[in-house]
Order: sequence, then C-alpha cells, then structure tokens
Amino acid sequence: MTTAVIGAGGIGSVIARQLASGGETLRLSSADKESARTLAAQIGRAAAAAADNRSALQGADAVVLALRFTVLKTVIDEISGSLAGRLVVVPSNPVSTDAQGNLSRVLPEGQSSGKVVAAWLPAGAHLAMAFGTLSADLFESSSNRSPEPAVLFYVTDDDRAGEEVEWLIRTAGFEPVKAGGLEQSGRLEVGGDLHDLVVGPAQARSLAGGA
Ligand SMILES: NC(=O)c1ccc[n+]([C@@H]2O[C@H](COP(=O)([O-])OP(=O)(O)OC[C@H]3O[C@@H](n4cnc5c(N)ncnc54)[C@H](OP(=O)(O)O)[C@@H]3O)[C@@H](O)[C@H]2O)c1
Repeated sequence: MTTAVIGAGGIGSVIARQLASGGETLRLSSADKESARTLAAQIGRAAAAAADNRSALQGADAVVLALRFTVLKTVIDEISGSLAGRLVVVPSNPVSTDAQGNLSRVLPEGQSSGKVVAAWLPAGAHLAMAFGTLSADLFESSSNRSPEPAVLFYVTDDDRAGEEVEWLIRTAGFEPVKAGGLEQSGRLEVGGDLHDLVVGPAQARSLAGGA
C-alpha cells in the first residue's frame, strides 16, 4: 500500500518512519520541499519526495495530513480534487503556540476539530482523526511494543475510514482502538482524556467506552 504524508516535521517524520518500517510505501511533501527530501533520503527506498502536495497523492491509497491545524484548510483546498475515495488521516491538534511557547486552542471550547475538518473535505473523502494522540517521542518509543502492543486511539464517522486507518495503525506498530465518532475528537487532542496515554488494548477499550 502507498500512503502520502504531507508535512515532514515533528510528527510527520515519525509517522513516516514507523509506517515505512511496517512495510508501507510513502510519498512525502512539505512546504519548502527540503524537509520532505531529507526525510525520504533518511527512510530510503520505501519513500520518495514528491514535487508538491498534489503530486504526493499520485498513486497513494491514503494521505496523512501531518500539518499544523492553522494550515490544514489551505492544504486541503489545494489537494481537494484528489481526495474523493481516499482515506484522509489527520493527526493535527487544534492548537497554536505563542512566542512564549504557550498553547491555546484555535477552536471554540467544545467544538469538535474532527467535525470542522470533515466540513472542509470534499464529498467522498474518508476521514479519520488519528496518529496525533501521542507526542512524537512517545509515538516512536511506544511503537512495536512487546509483548503487549500500545494503542493508538482514533475517531471517525466512516466505517471504511475506520477499517483503513486500523490497517495503517497496525502497520505503524500499534493496536487501534476507536474512541467514537468525530464528535469525540476532543478526547484525542492536547488536554483530552486520551491524549499522551500509552496503554494496552484492554485498558484502552475500557477507557474509550468510558466517556
Ligand atoms: N510534534 C508532535 O509531537 C505532535 C504530536 C501529536 C500531534 N501533533 C500535531 O501534529 C500537527 C503537526 O505538528 P508538528 O509538530 O509535526 O509540526 P511541525 O514540526 O511544524 O511540522 C509541520 C510540517 O508541515 C509542513 N507544512 C507547512 N505548510 C505546508 C504546506 N502548505 N504544504 C505542505 N507542508 C506544509 C512543514 O513543512 P516544512 O518542513 O517545509 O516547514 C512541516 O514539515 C500539529 O497540529 C500538532 O499539534 C504533533
């Protein structure tokens, strides 16, 4: 399978590395091209840097938008002609950071980022909010955990997106657990009860059902 990863920064680079180590073929892009080229060179034959965001989607079954929430809509608008029929995975937390490093939510309290992103997508795209629940360091150190795999939570309103994102999550070395529909995306983000939790499947299922 081939996945496009748009954004090669803190989380995009770790997602790409873990997917590649699970056997996924990757097409990478970034804002200035250099970070995607550097990441593709680090990963090796499984990854290729694309000329731009649109061409990253050529031949891809799925796309991970590893972007800050504030640039998501611009990039979705740029690639929207290629999103119908594809899994779209969004790890973005709806936060921005000020000069002092303080985080603030960019959406009104209680508004679901998943619902907001869904409204930006064209008809026929299959959205799952996933891969953004763990910080990059935790993501890397928790993947392929043994004997009990660590869980990555996801939310979606779309059964096909659920099946496909579960496959990608397993490819990245985690066990998938659904935490509900897009309305529940706040549980996954910074400040949510499932954010930065490294737990096994049994505990994760109990937590996911416990909201
Ligand atoms: N970092 C984490 O530990 C972590 C963990 C979980 C979730 N998240 C969430 O994931 C999102 C991304 O965070 P991050 O830390 O990875 O951010 P980041 O390090 O700033 O990386 C953002 C990436 O987006 C790329 N980009 C920006 N504009 C673009 C455009 N128009 N087209 C294509 N690529 C573009 C940048 O390209 P250049 O490299 O060329 O500048 C960069 O590679 C955030 O919403 C964050 O909350 C982050």
